[in-house]
Amino acid sequence: MAAMMIFDFQNYFILILLCLFSLLCYTVFFRKQKESRLGFDLPPSPPSLPIIGHLHIILSLLIHKSLQKLASKYGPLLHLRIVSFPIVLVSSASVAEEIFKAQDVNVSSRSLPTSEGSLYFGSFGFVTAPHGDYWKFMKKLITTKLLGVQALERSQGIRADEVELFYSNLLDKAMKKERVNLGEEAMKLTNNSMCKMLMGKTCKEDAETVRGLVAKTDSMAKKLFLASILRRPLEKLGISLFKKELTGVSSRFDEVLERYLVEHEKKQEEQGVDVMGVLIEAYRDENAEYKITRNHIKSLFVDLFIAGSETTSNVIEWIMSELINNPKTLERLRGEIDLVIGKTRLIQETDLPNLPYLQAVMKEGLRLHPPVPLMVRTFQEGCEVNGFHIPEKTTLVVNGYAVMRDPEFWEDPEEFKPERFLVSSRFGQQEDKIREKVPNYIPFGSGRRGCPGSNLAYLFLGTAVGVMVQCFEWRIKEERVNMDEAAGSVSLSMAHPIHATPVVRTQDFLT
Ligand code: HEM
Repeated sequence: MAAMMIFDFQNYFILILLCLFSLLCYTVFFRKQKESRLGFDLPPSPPSLPIIGHLHIILSLLIHKSLQKLASKYGPLLHLRIVSFPIVLVSSASVAEEIFKAQDVNVSSRSLPTSEGSLYFGSFGFVTAPHGDYWKFMKKLITTKLLGVQALERSQGIRADEVELFYSNLLDKAMKKERVNLGEEAMKLTNNSMCKMLMGKTCKEDAETVRGLVAKTDSMAKKLFLASILRRPLEKLGISLFKKELTGVSSRFDEVLERYLVEHEKKQEEQGVDVMGVLIEAYRDENAEYKITRNHIKSLFVDLFIAGSETTSNVIEWIMSELINNPKTLERLRGEIDLVIGKTRLIQETDLPNLPYLQAVMKEGLRLHPPVPLMVRTFQEGCEVNGFHIPEKTTLVVNGYAVMRDPEFWEDPEEFKPERFLVSSRFGQQEDKIREKVPNYIPFGSGRRGCPGSNLAYLFLGTAVGVMVQCFEWRIKEERVNMDEAAGSVSLSMAHPIHATPVVRTQDFLT
């Protein structure tokens, strides 16, 4: 599989190289060179290769690590170029903070390449939408009706049912002494919960299809990332790196979602209850602030499934792996859960505020293993950052992975130490509180385009990890879990997905 990816990758490299070479010839021979704006006041630039500039770094197998290495050698604010197209790379918290504060609106569009008509990475998408009326309308709807604190309280029952199913499934495996692919089980939990929250019903027969499609988009993520970085040169050449795959994924999503949409439209009485109902209402409302279409609704669902499921399940997998490799941390976490909840009932979402160590474990898992390590935006206008000039339309890449492992700010940055997120009160350990604000901490990005799903993500992480720690011991065949990151992927996933056998430690809560 890895070999295939590398092979696939080499092909891309050659293809892109050829394209860029053609572009260069075109620029040199047929077009009058624009006045160069790449003057002395741009951020420093590391040595580059002739013609392609820093393309080879962008194409490396673990991009976030290559970029982290580059920043540790040349500095936290760098100017890179692909042929003549500029990229600004930010790898420190202070520069990221300056940009997200002073330039928030200026960098609130991603200018991603979109494929006309596609439900994913298409022109109706929310994640790909420019910072304009459509994005503002949907953002308001998302925060009030789906992902805001009150909306999440209303959907709590849906997730509680899914957590029970998750538990009973693990219990069943424990009874049969079967090994569990933790990432897969976590993915089922997040995906099924999202289906019910969005559409008001379990996806049942479509659940496998939806999970398969989400996994497929994850495998396309690297290409989409490259296309985002290389958008301008590729657009000039009229090349799409992913059109065929996108169309395939999009039409299969469309098939499922159109069916649910039609079904939902027939059930007038359910409208306004779940997200689908709310969106249908908005779609029919002649006086709505923004007139959305059916494709907007379907695209939003695709975006939410993709943005919410794989990210969360990846982190659950990483956190469980860290806990298995750090038995003392696991013991302390279990002690906290036993003390606060006891051994007679299953952990619930409402317990999470009373479990500061569990919260610290989640935060530390996200710090070390952010599922979206690189955030891509665009400077709409030219501006000053840290005393340097940034030209308009420059692509911004913030390396959250590097920011959250920056040795200047984090003690033992490579170590899994949840305690760093606690503040101890004068009465000692049991009165630990979670730090409310930690600078340099950006697993969910920042500013107005930051992740709107962070509250939901913490609920998923807290209950899933909580159940696995509260109810089971975990046995692995190896001495330690291998923590290598998968190469050739931009969402941070494990190179060797963890398989472990659950051993029941408490009575069956559901009998
Ligand atoms: C551990 C889980 C998650 C992590 C680490 C994560 C992280 C991120 C990051 C880094 C971004 C880009 C932010 C930026 O550009 O500054 C993002 C965007 C987004 N996330 Fe999440 N996310 C998670 C879960 C979720 C969930 C559960 C949902 C919703 C169901 C969600 C929905 C979104 C959406 C819609 C965007 C695009 C926001 C926009 O363009 O305005 N995410 N996420």
